[in-house]
Amino acid sequence: MAGPASCWGARKIEHAAQDTQGRDGDPLIEPATPDAIARAARLLREGGLVAFPTETVYGLGADAAADAAVARLFAAKGRPHFNPLIAHVSDLHAAHRIAIVGALAETLAKRFWPGPLTLVLPRRADSPVSLLATAGLDSIAVRVPAHPVARALLAAFGGPIVAPSANRSGQVSPTTAAHVAEDFGTDIPLILDGGPTPHGLESTVVDLTGEDPAILRPGAIPREALEEWLGDLGAPRGGPIRSPGQLASHYAPRRPLRLEATDVHTHEALLAFGPGTPAGALRTLNLSPSGDLVEAASHLFAHLRALDHAPVRAIAVMPIPERGLGEAINDRLRRAAAPR
Ligand code: TXA
Ligand code: MG
Repeated sequence: MAGPASCWGARKIEHAAQDTQGRDGDPLIEPATPDAIARAARLLREGGLVAFPTETVYGLGADAAADAAVARLFAAKGRPHFNPLIAHVSDLHAAHRIAIVGALAETLAKRFWPGPLTLVLPRRADSPVSLLATAGLDSIAVRVPAHPVARALLAAFGGPIVAPSANRSGQVSPTTAAHVAEDFGTDIPLILDGGPTPHGLESTVVDLTGEDPAILRPGAIPREALEEWLGDLGAPRGGPIRSPGQLASHYAPRRPLRLEATDVHTHEALLAFGPGTPAGALRTLNLSPSGDLVEAASHLFAHLRALDHAPVRAIAVMPIPERGLGEAINDRLRRAAAPR
């Protein structure tokens, strides 16, 4: 896995304009230099949207405290308003200003922050975060990202930033700046390019508001690592979104997915895992030829996007073991395969 530091060597991919002013809607992908980060912070202060890399996936950021900015973010993503956002903050101290951080949360924060763990905590009554961002719930999802670009942006902005994954609602999450541009085109003024994201899977969301801690979304921190601190966590529990099937279909490519494939049908592409892949696919991409789940997670979304662009009718996906990061990978694959 590439360390976050290596993400700084970003390339300018396209639309090589020099600044965000006066460019009617060109998607602007810029290497995440200190200068570009300062400009991004300015855009956020003005109520604008900025895409930026985190160690998990690219986020689409807005000023968490500004209702209008948050509304713009929901609109840009096409995200239902009942689905709350994660507030990104620079450290534990900043988390205390927006949420009630109990003893268990502190313990987890000290172990896993900065990093890909999102904690759902009681919202502070005087939390400055927009009620729209938390969908009117009395809880709030908080995370301290580890990626140097995300951290620099938080420092330059100086307040919480809400950031869902920078894809249109329901689509595959972006792990490169180019993926973000693919989804949003000219709709966002600045995409900070920090190279491919190291984990490639969203953060693990843990709910600490109930009687027992529960995983709401499997993610880049495997269950086993959390259970060392929390004991047995049981099956992942649905989040606040409980209406049947509402978000069952998610992370969805256009082509249908066929899971647990051990052979290849005509007109299929193959998303392979491990050695010994079946022959006959129109196109094959392997998540990890050596069967390494960390490597597989980092390639998942990019490979899904690439195969979705291939001239095929469907994508066959080989079985992925359910241990470690396999739980989160299989979660995303099942949602991608769910009927729309
Ligand atoms: O890795 C990540 O978490 C990325 C990067 C950009 O930080 N962000 C991300 O955000 O994946 P998003 O909006 O795509 O997913 C946030 C998840 C959703 O499943 C949402 O329902 C859940 O967190 N969530 C947010 N606030 C919540 C709350 N108060 N209670 C329960 N679940 C919540
Ligand atoms: Mg998302």
